[in-house]
Amino acid sequence: MLNGGPGRRLVRRRPASPPPDAALGGGEVLRVVDVTKWYGGVQALDRVSMSVDSGEVVALVGDNGAGKSTLVNVIAGIITPDEGELYVRGERLAIRSTDDAALHGIRTVHQEHTLADNLDVVENLFLGREMYRGVGPLRRVDFAAMQKRTWAALSDLGISTISDVRASVAMMSGGQRQTIAVARATLETYPIVLLDEPTAGLGVAECQRVMELVLRLKGQGTAIVIVSQNIEEIFEVADRIVVLHLGKVGAVFRRAETTPEAVLGAVMGMA
Ligand SMILES: Nc1ncnc2c1ncn2[C@@H]1O[C@H](COP(=O)(O)OP(=O)(O)OP(=O)(O)O)[C@@H](O)[C@H]1O
Ligand SMILES: [Mg+2]
Repeated sequence: MLNGGPGRRLVRRRPASPPPDAALGGGEVLRVVDVTKWYGGVQALDRVSMSVDSGEVVALVGDNGAGKSTLVNVIAGIITPDEGELYVRGERLAIRSTDDAALHGIRTVHQEHTLADNLDVVENLFLGREMYRGVGPLRRVDFAAMQKRTWAALSDLGISTISDVRASVAMMSGGQRQTIAVARATLETYPIVLLDEPTAGLGVAECQRVMELVLRLKGQGTAIVIVSQNIEEIFEVADRIVVLHLGKVGAVFRRAETTPEAVLGAVMGMA
């Protein structure tokens, strides 16, 4: 059981430890072992194991329904698996919530956009980690600073399709919303970033920017899991490619040692 039985170590709430941009050393950062998840009679994950090193990009690929989002959501603390273990830097964890995941330096961009419709772009970007100025009774949310950081993040990503960062995101296009969701993961340096189809719905130039961003995070030592349906994208950024087929790890490839045809074959269950 991932969440541990009696005597198992549970996640302790510490003030802000580790900080999101804790020193990013080399080596293995994330490991999942034998994760299994059933939805009623459907087995979404069947003893899935994988690992990601610091500065490594692992692409998670597979057909619709293969279990990719379920695995991402298990690591992100949204889904509790029926069985399996999760390790961050060798420490076994019981991640029960997205807050727990964040405490361990895990940041996720979900397939279903999780923006708050009633909030504007700045508020969505900084939701749960607002910037403040002043102390004591004079402490106030620093909108000016957050707005400045928002423009910087959007410009960093080369995003020119958002003209008003104080506008509610409810009226924005799928691509614009997706862009904001990706920008959220770039405000700080996180040791582990999970991206579930981050380029779905994006234009060609925006896709390219997201790929550049992934490579930049990799350069900073972030361990990255990216779900993608786009084989070109995968070959552009991934170091390793993990193929899920019907909830199982069907194959694992090193990008340098494989071909798109071999990966697509495994996706279709022919590996
Ligand atoms: N909340 C749920 N309740 C019931 N079944 C679910 C639920 N979420 C996922 N499933 C099932 O689990 C399996 C894996 O789904 P998952 O969303 O992980 O696939 P995926 O690989 O991300 O697919 P896609 O490429 O379509 O995003 C599917 O058979 C799906 O129908
Ligand atoms: Mg999915």
